Amino acid sequence: MEKSCIFPDFPHFLHGGDYNPDQWQKYPEILEEDMRLFKLANCNSVSVGIFAWAALEPEEGKFDFSFLDKAMDDIYANGGRVILATPSGARPAWMAQKYPEVMRVDESRQRHWFGNRHNHCFTSPIYRQKVAEINGRLAERYKDHPALIAWHVSNEYSGSCHCDLCRAAFREWLKRKYGTLEALNDQWWTAFWAHTYTDWSQIDPPSPPMGDRAINGLRIDWLRFAADQTTDFFKNEIAPLRKFTPHIPVTANLMGFHTSVDYRVLAKELDFVSHDSYPEWKGTAADIRHASDHAARYDLNRSLKHKPFIQMESTPSNTNWKQFNKLKRPGMHMLSSMQILAHGSESVLYFQWRKSRGAAERFHGAVVDHVGHENTRVFRDVAEVGARLKKLEEILGTVTESRVAILYDWQNRWALDVAQGFQMSDKKVQKTLQDHYFALWRRGINVEIIGEEDDFSRYDLVIAPQLYMTSEKLIGKIADYVRDGGEMLCTYMLGMVNENDRCHLGGFPGGKLKEVFGIWNEEIDTLYPEDSNRVEWRGKSYRAFDYCELLHAEGAETLAVYGEDFYAGMPAITAHPYGKGKAYYVAFRGEDEFLYDFIGSLLEERGIVSDFDGALPYGVTAHSRTDGETVYVFLQNFTAQPQETETSRVWRTVEDGEPVSGRIALAPYGTLILARKPGEPG
Ligand code: GLA
Ligand code: ZN
Repeated sequence: MEKSCIFPDFPHFLHGGDYNPDQWQKYPEILEEDMRLFKLANCNSVSVGIFAWAALEPEEGKFDFSFLDKAMDDIYANGGRVILATPSGARPAWMAQKYPEVMRVDESRQRHWFGNRHNHCFTSPIYRQKVAEINGRLAERYKDHPALIAWHVSNEYSGSCHCDLCRAAFREWLKRKYGTLEALNDQWWTAFWAHTYTDWSQIDPPSPPMGDRAINGLRIDWLRFAADQTTDFFKNEIAPLRKFTPHIPVTANLMGFHTSVDYRVLAKELDFVSHDSYPEWKGTAADIRHASDHAARYDLNRSLKHKPFIQMESTPSNTNWKQFNKLKRPGMHMLSSMQILAHGSESVLYFQWRKSRGAAERFHGAVVDHVGHENTRVFRDVAEVGARLKKLEEILGTVTESRVAILYDWQNRWALDVAQGFQMSDKKVQKTLQDHYFALWRRGINVEIIGEEDDFSRYDLVIAPQLYMTSEKLIGKIADYVRDGGEMLCTYMLGMVNENDRCHLGGFPGGKLKEVFGIWNEEIDTLYPEDSNRVEWRGKSYRAFDYCELLHAEGAETLAVYGEDFYAGMPAITAHPYGKGKAYYVAFRGEDEFLYDFIGSLLEERGIVSDFDGALPYGVTAHSRTDGETVYVFLQNFTAQPQETETSRVWRTVEDGEPVSGRIALAPYGTLILARKPGEPG
């Protein structure tokens, strides 16, 4: 396998973060000091200009690049590189004043005033033109600048706009999708509550406060449209970047499971994925689950392109926007930074380099505090991470190999989020995925989080919790995957609706899924929070809660039954050989211990093991990367206590090449990064 990293001309883990010299133009001494501190902190890169439009274009058509020229030159002179931002995440006041159409209209059809950020219309021709112009000027000016390594396009795209332009664009999108109103009425089941549309102009976006929320197909299509329109806006942003800097890769910073944009659509247009995340470390046992939940985010973002990614933002200490903004305990910064690497990142980047002097984010964690010097705990933590990254460079360009995938699609999630029924307010789609993920994380199993367009045959085991929305195409794909030898685990709510949220007729799970799983799900019981049932499997009794389906085995083998209530004795877990593969079904929501044990049995059946051979105490895990020959294992202790494990192999530490075998001690919050060539003796 050829090792290739995201920036082959700058083969280092990036370390640095959001740098805002535009805010400090009146403080030349601070800008000077930044460069001294940049080197001291072992940083090598910054993201600049993310919210700098007012500095770059103080008056319409009058540009001033002086602060940016200096920053680009200074960073380069100090051995660093720049990820240059396009400034569309926030616009200057003059623009909003002169061209109100650039501002977003909310679902109550109120146009927002100037202020805040991330609130532009993504259809407005004027905004698109202004963005293309400033982006073009930036690209033309810096196209040959040796500091420039990537484009950071806009910031955390999210949400949608309900202005007349966006509504008209939505109707056009619907015409393209359905062709005729009859087809749309049919798929959306608009005979319900007299919704039949007789003219395209009658269709408006859903609006829970003011307009429609009864037509699920409409709600899901609106979100699909928003993802397409965001992606189209992104394409407009990058056209001038491609023109002047075809050699510079583009990215947009994503936010894990963020719901308003289908990242699978946007990610197709990115050269590499970048990701922001802010775990809420508590300094308690809760950190263990929290670490797993964040690992799932990293894996999701990595899996969008099945390639290493850039961690664009994280905090070196606290945030300032949570309810409680606790400090990272000593050791946690190193632990969380190494965790990002363990899941495929080629960077540890921060929001933010220096705390701003005023406004909303001045108390958010930063490398440099208001005190202004390097003698702080956080600065030392950061410098230590930077020093360690330099010693880990042989890991750059390595990839994550995984035999297990979890299926997660935004559209399925939206469909469940808007569905009336079940538990009304929260179907817990993300949490359920993370519950399944946790069972794998605890065992040190690498996971990909894939979408329905991905190739299932790359995996031995595909887990698809709450896969409610299944098109005929997806049903066919699942059937083929299992028939050809794959192992699939699905759960309650499988295959209830098609891609436009119309129920499958003829019993659930819809279509061929009944044949693949050998079951019929007659009813689903939604339990009150205080209710539960019991399921006994392999001699152990587990709590079933939230959902229990009343299942009939129609060809499947029943592995366990319900112990209580009027459906006691009905199947709760089934297995069904289909073709060369096997389809498992779990009809209830189970506790963590159940998922740990049950998923463990599937791994065992397929011989899927962690790349680290030792036992993993609760809170200790091991994820790996490889170049095809050497396996790199990140053995991490997410507990505040020392932990121990034992290996029967011979490893070396990546940082200093020390041999490691037998008993291994892990410090509280400690990370050991081990390497070994499986082909070699030992
Ligand atoms: C987001 C934004 C940053 C900053 C941080 C604060 O991720 O992209 O500009 O506001 O949050 O945590
Ligand atoms: Zn709009």
